[in-house]
Amino acid sequence: MKFKSPIIIGCDHAAYALKEKVKAFLITFSITVEDVGVYSESSSDYPDYGIKVAQGVSTGKFERGMLLCGTGQGMTMVANRFAHVRAALCHSIFAADMSRRHNDSNILVMGGRVIGEGLAREIVRVWLEAPFEGTRHKERLKKFDQLGEHVKK
Ligand code: RB5
Repeated sequence: MKFKSPIIIGCDHAAYALKEKVKAFLITFSITVEDVGVYSESSSDYPDYGIKVAQGVSTGKFERGMLLCGTGQGMTMVANRFAHVRAALCHSIFAADMSRRHNDSNILVMGGRVIGEGLAREIVRVWLEAPFEGTRHKERLKKFDQLGEHVKK
């Protein structure tokens, strides 16, 4: 697995421990990581870190990102407000695989209060390795950019 840029990763206090584990997996896969925080278990607001990671991916500075909070729900909601971000909340290997193959997900989201280290490691591995299948799925993704009027600020 080779990426054009480091993987940008962020979390809140509820997933700090899992984020540190995920960083360690990424290093064993020889992947460079840009960690935008948090750096401790002190209380924090997940949107602040979701925004940093989503901005990094949305602007194209980073090809892929990872976000973690307690459930993964809040981070997914924040990240998917950004153009070109396709954040996928994955707590199964199947979801991680399909989010790449069919949805070309570019941010992986997990909940530190939902899954343990072993499953997270496999989810990360599969998500990094699975290719986007293109074809009809590419045509469906194009429709994301045509939402236009339906998307109100
Ligand atoms: C923090 O208590 C928790 O609300 C947050 O980590 C996350 O689960 C939000 O979606």
